[in-house]
Amino acid sequence: MNKIALTLTALGTAALLGGCAGMQSGGTDNPFADASFQKILKNDFSSKGQATVDRLKQVGAAQYECSKYDYLGKPMPEDVAKRIESQSLAAVVPPADGKYLGDWKAGLEVASNGKGMQWNDKPGSPNGGNCEACHKVVPNDPSQGDIGPPLVGYGRLRGASEAMLKYTWARIYDSASFNACSYMPPFGAHHILTEQQMKDVMALLFDPNSPVNK
Ligand code: HEC
Repeated sequence: MNKIALTLTALGTAALLGGCAGMQSGGTDNPFADASFQKILKNDFSSKGQATVDRLKQVGAAQYECSKYDYLGKPMPEDVAKRIESQSLAAVVPPADGKYLGDWKAGLEVASNGKGMQWNDKPGSPNGGNCEACHKVVPNDPSQGDIGPPLVGYGRLRGASEAMLKYTWARIYDSASFNACSYMPPFGAHHILTEQQMKDVMALLFDPNSPVNK
């Protein structure tokens, strides 16, 4: 059997975990803890370039618990979800200089760029945020996705209070802070975007001159 080249992106990982969660391997409450399941992963995936099989290891309580309850076909108990959310929120690192807003033009680049972290991307080149794959970010562009809620008019509709800036930063840093099994990649927690890139995306959402708010 041909090995499937490991071309996981941050987004692909979420899809893979979701897909695996439905498999039956018996004898465990989490397929990732099951030896026969680990064997399947080992046989079917191989490292390629910077996309190494290390990425198949579950990182943190959110990935473990979310796969587990998905696999069991049961809703996650409230207390487990609350624990993941409060731990994720507590681990959010605010911008070092206390300034949340960068350059919206650079943020637009980040939001529309879906490249980075794949085996054929140049290691060390900046990753995209791929926000537009899941959100309507700018008006009148039908190519944008709708897995997440529309962000068009974000700053205009919500204002830029300290609380709103903090909330949005934490959402981008690690969305599990508010929804334990969020589909949104943890851009800060998993070092997908740099602090500056997150600031730029924040400016895209809040700057009155950004196309988001026009
Ligand atoms: C794989 C899909 C996906 C990607 C990529 C993604 N998001 Fe999300 N996002 C979601 C989903 C789904 C939600 C809804 C809440 C939840 O499930 O956690 C969300 C929620 C949000 C929210 C909160 C919205 C609200 O109403 O309070 C913000 C802000 C946000 N995303 C910004 C971004 C930004 C900025 C990017 C790019 C850097 C991005 N998202 C990339 C899926 C995604």
